[in-house]
Amino acid sequence: MSAPNFIRACQGQPTEHTPIWIMRQAGRYLPAYQAIRAQHDFLTICHVPELASEVTLQPVREFGFDAAIVFSDILLPLEPMGIDLQFIEGKGPRLSPQIRTRQDVDRLREAHFDASSCFLGKALEMARGELDAGTALIGFAGAPWTMACYAVEGMGSRHYATVKQMMNSEPQTLHALLDKLTKVLIAWLRMQLDAGADAFQVFDSWADALAPMDYREFALPYLRRLFEALRRPGKPAILFSKDAGAFADENVGLPIDVLAVDWRVDLAGLRQKFAGRGPAAYQGNLDPLVLLGDRRILLRKTEEILSANAGTPGYIFNLGHGITPPTPVENVRALVDYVHAFRSAS
Ligand code: CP3
Repeated sequence: MSAPNFIRACQGQPTEHTPIWIMRQAGRYLPAYQAIRAQHDFLTICHVPELASEVTLQPVREFGFDAAIVFSDILLPLEPMGIDLQFIEGKGPRLSPQIRTRQDVDRLREAHFDASSCFLGKALEMARGELDAGTALIGFAGAPWTMACYAVEGMGSRHYATVKQMMNSEPQTLHALLDKLTKVLIAWLRMQLDAGADAFQVFDSWADALAPMDYREFALPYLRRLFEALRRPGKPAILFSKDAGAFADENVGLPIDVLAVDWRVDLAGLRQKFAGRGPAAYQGNLDPLVLLGDRRILLRKTEEILSANAGTPGYIFNLGHGITPPTPVENVRALVDYVHAFRSAS
């Protein structure tokens, strides 16, 4: 039996239709998620495999996405390292202690994970058991740089001033933190592949905070180490780099199968530029806020992206960042149906 459409597209092979999934597809815009969320807080849903698996499957049942992404959060592997994690309603994540000194870094534990006992491994195993063979299951983690931002700042931040303070006054401390995070993230992703994830995506959501020289020193080497450690035949590796446009030259040289880009990039132009030497596939990149507008404009912009990209193998449709909570469910359905029905003119 051949691999799912999504996996084939990740490997640059032709597919029957253009595969689609969307970042944050399991979440607050979905009434079925809100119903579970009304009964349990966010971290409980993440930590209870039955709940996490159910929420993972909801968008696939509802819309027929080509891949499910496991319900979890990039911040969870910080907990076993010794950082307490809370989500405050309306404010987002709060971490303590914040990692500010070399001693703080040295105190962090190098956590290990076991697929059969970890809540996330169990959620993946349960979800994989329910999905049909044509639908892929994606595991994920944050990139070392993005995780360091949260560990140092203790919350989301606009300018990342504190982590940049560390970068520009005690770079060795930041390197020590990135080194430790990379080891833990490799273990976290390995566990997910062992538990049944068919592919994995690394979210470098805060790459766009970095100057190119800092990207090359503080982000790229750790991404390289992570992707090299996680190469497995048939299990594609995806990098979502927010501001992949600026760092595309660096990113295409990484051992990844798929580069996922935000909406500010001309995706077809990027693919052309790196044809024959970059990753096997690209993923993206509709602006998520288009989903809040008029249905005809949504489908026109979707058509524009598909016409430019779907004619060449190695393309997966996605948004340029996560779907936002006010998105009307019927627009998501119209989008998925449109992408599946689209046949390239070429
Ligand atoms: O894509 C999916 O559907 C899978 C689940 C998923 C979540 N978070 C669930 C979630 C994924 C892939 C993430 C990744 C994540 N988490 C990122 C990287 C992706 C990106 O958006 O750039 C980041 C930076 C986080 C950290 C995080 N988690 C923040 C900043 C917040 C609060 C702000 C927000 O968007 O709500 C979360 C909470 C979170 N993670 C929710 C969900 C469904 C909302 C929880 C709720 O209130 O129900």
